[in-house]
Amino acid sequence: MNVPLIDLTTQHRNLRAEINLALQAVLDRGDFILGQDVTRLEDEFAAYCGAKYAIGVDSGLSALELSLRALGVGAGDEVIVPAHTFTATAAAATLAGATPVFVDVDPQTWTIDPARIEDAITERTKAIIPVHLYGLPADMNAILRVAEKHNLVVVEDACQAHGAKYHGQRTGSIGHAAGFSFYPTKNLGGCGDGGIVTTSDEKVAGTIRALRNCGQTAKNVHELLPLNHRLDSMQAAILRVKLKYLDEMVASRRRLAAHYTRLLAGLSVMLPAEPPGYEHVYHLYVIRSQNRDALQAHLKDRGVGTAVHYPNPVHLQPFYSNGTNRRGQFPVAEKICDEILSLPMYPELTEEQVEIVAAEIATALVPSVQGR
Ligand SMILES: Cc1ncc(COP(=O)(O)O)c(C=O)c1O
Repeated sequence: MNVPLIDLTTQHRNLRAEINLALQAVLDRGDFILGQDVTRLEDEFAAYCGAKYAIGVDSGLSALELSLRALGVGAGDEVIVPAHTFTATAAAATLAGATPVFVDVDPQTWTIDPARIEDAITERTKAIIPVHLYGLPADMNAILRVAEKHNLVVVEDACQAHGAKYHGQRTGSIGHAAGFSFYPTKNLGGCGDGGIVTTSDEKVAGTIRALRNCGQTAKNVHELLPLNHRLDSMQAAILRVKLKYLDEMVASRRRLAAHYTRLLAGLSVMLPAEPPGYEHVYHLYVIRSQNRDALQAHLKDRGVGTAVHYPNPVHLQPFYSNGTNRRGQFPVAEKICDEILSLPMYPELTEEQVEIVAAEIATALVPSVQGR
């Protein structure tokens, strides 16, 4: 039996009738741009996260960029980001006109290491973007303490962490603002691009609402930078259907992750951490092996889909290395990128499929592909 890394078709087959009705309603109303479904999704998602406001935008990257802009981050400023993340985290700072400054990650949780943030702070530092990577919240209390001490704003990169909790608080309600992605593979994914900002700051929410819509503070009053980053009503309609099932889908991911963890415990691979008080939502179930490439090749051979999120830390991406060799600068992130492997994970995956994957990993690790 083949086990794909992800399956986007089963979920849509299950929800087809509801989604069709929702899309038909948009067609009947014709409110394609910032229509009723966008406003309702914003209210529902804000309530879900425990934030006062949500503003629908066209991608997770836009959500982060507009959050920074609305919080006053711009040219000449520095924004602290983890070295191990998807490049869009750093790109948000770049697009806002600022400079991303990388910080290494924690070797156990793989999220930004709060103990290293202070060393990266200069008089130009304005913001920190902690990333709730793979669905595990970053250590927000420690990060907020540093931010408060240095008068910095905190924008959560929650693009992979819809529904995750940190000491009882949902991601999206902890920092000054948060950006979520609705990219189709995400825990709450649309059928195309989309994103949303959450914040409890009324002024920030108003600024983002204007920025996403050609800088308009009122109809035909273009007071701010005239960008277009609107979420469209068709995506919002689909996302409203799926939001109703998000907790169920998260519960399924957590159940499958626990099954993986039970089956893989004792093998020579490192498993994802979930410190006390954290609720991981397993956007990705990622393991580490010192023989990652051989393990991945074996799984491919046996029909198991895997991927590497991400093969290179951001400071080594050509755009951010500025033609210089920055290898060695963030050794934890670099080592993680050499060892990580994402296993099949989606709510409709079965326990039997998890058992197949785990059995193949066990076979691969004995004796020729021995990992850590
Ligand atoms: C951690 C992280 N940040 C930012 C983004 C950007 O989201 P989008 O692809 O919707 O722009 C993504 C998703 O791809 C992500 O995984």
